[in-house]
Amino acid sequence: MPRPKSKNPRSRVVNFRLTDCEYGEMEAAASSAGFASLSDYLRRLHMDAVQAGEPDGVKEQRYLYDLLEPKSYEETEFGQIYLGDSLGLLHKTVDAESVDLVLTSPPFGLVRKKAYGNEDADQYVEWFKPFAEGMRRVLKKQGSLVIDIGSAWKSGIPTKSLYHFELLMTLCRDYGFHLCQEHYWWNPAKLPTPAEWVNIRRIRVKDAINCIWWLSPTPWPKASNKRILAPYSESMRSLLKNGYTPKLRPSGHDISAKFGRDNGGSVPPNLLALANTESNGAYQEYCKANGLPVHPARFPAGIPEYFIRMLTDEGDLVVDPFAGSCVTGEVAESLKRKWICCELVEDYLKGARARFVGLRPKLRKTESSPYQIFPPCSLNGESDTTPLPTDGGFNRPSHLTHIDPPHPENTALSPIDAAPFNNILSHMRRDETLAPQDQKA
Ligand SMILES: C[S@@+](CC[C@H](N)C(=O)[O-])C[C@H]1O[C@@H](n2cnc3c(N)ncnc32)[C@H](O)[C@@H]1O
Repeated sequence: MPRPKSKNPRSRVVNFRLTDCEYGEMEAAASSAGFASLSDYLRRLHMDAVQAGEPDGVKEQRYLYDLLEPKSYEETEFGQIYLGDSLGLLHKTVDAESVDLVLTSPPFGLVRKKAYGNEDADQYVEWFKPFAEGMRRVLKKQGSLVIDIGSAWKSGIPTKSLYHFELLMTLCRDYGFHLCQEHYWWNPAKLPTPAEWVNIRRIRVKDAINCIWWLSPTPWPKASNKRILAPYSESMRSLLKNGYTPKLRPSGHDISAKFGRDNGGSVPPNLLALANTESNGAYQEYCKANGLPVHPARFPAGIPEYFIRMLTDEGDLVVDPFAGSCVTGEVAESLKRKWICCELVEDYLKGARARFVGLRPKLRKTESSPYQIFPPCSLNGESDTTPLPTDGGFNRPSHLTHIDPPHPENTALSPIDAAPFNNILSHMRRDETLAPQDQKA
């Protein structure tokens, strides 16, 4: 079929002069951002500048006019990797209502700071909206959207941004998603950070969970918890062996004889205990050997494995629009799901190739020994009795004043936890860093 004629053809040709250096820089910037030509790149820059100057409300749909589709980069038996902006992927490349699961971990902090207030959360949500619309577009009615989203500390003060909650609210309120169930990813190997608040001033606790929002366009997405069972606990195994006497529990729950039936494993809670400690797998070795950056914000394969098993069948389509090192693709490939991964930074995709060389990737065996977590206050008898700091920890304990205070940019998350782009939300807000007594009412 011939291409339909544009109502607004690009008939003007413009020449302008650049130095060699300017030309080289612009061409490199355009290609690393996934633009096919300099003119596409300039058009997009212009569009961004126009939008930045427009009053709110006009901005909404502009991004759709000139979206570029990402380039096909690599293919595997079940999957396809794209290089470029996933906005184009979600709005153009992928067919509407064709995806069973969008599973992703978006960057958290791409937007620029504001000097005060709650703007970080607002800006993040604004940035995310076109992606949300694209995700809604490609998802099948009974599909699921799973977003693993890290939290962020505000810089210089011991409080947290609300941006990931704002995102959840917006997705449900403005894009018609239903919250099927929130999950929490607990990383038992997480270091006690932010060190300033946790270790030095001792006024906060170790920040060791990520929120994972499981959403769907319907309250009834396809799902089965039978796919993700965990081994029974010691006590449940002995109960299954020795039998159970039905009785009313103190909570009022009537535990029937069915409780003693062996269902093959226990239904896991919505707390996923997965250490993110892998530091010398084939992926890392390949990156090191080829001088490529190891992606700094990978999630463990156990996260995509859990949701892909629970929410999709073999042959279904899984999409990760913020693919990073393509962990999602690797897991989907080994579970025989069709998949699409899209990533903006080519170096990450060069490294991701390591996941697909040779045989189909195999899932590592999940550790089945449980992690141990003590109930809080387990050391109650020996707890500290010094009075609580009346300044809320604003002043450092006097015996620690010799230690350099953290640079405001670095208090949000330690480099180990933080993706290079994740602290942008957490810049200094002058008003809030004043001592409590100096703050304006
Ligand atoms: C948190 S990381 C994902 C890591 C991934 N889950 C893994 O385990 O390797 C987010 C990724 O999104 C990419 N990204 C940001 N904006 C993008 C866009 N518009 N299109 C495609 N990728 C994008 C970033 O370059 C980054 O690698």
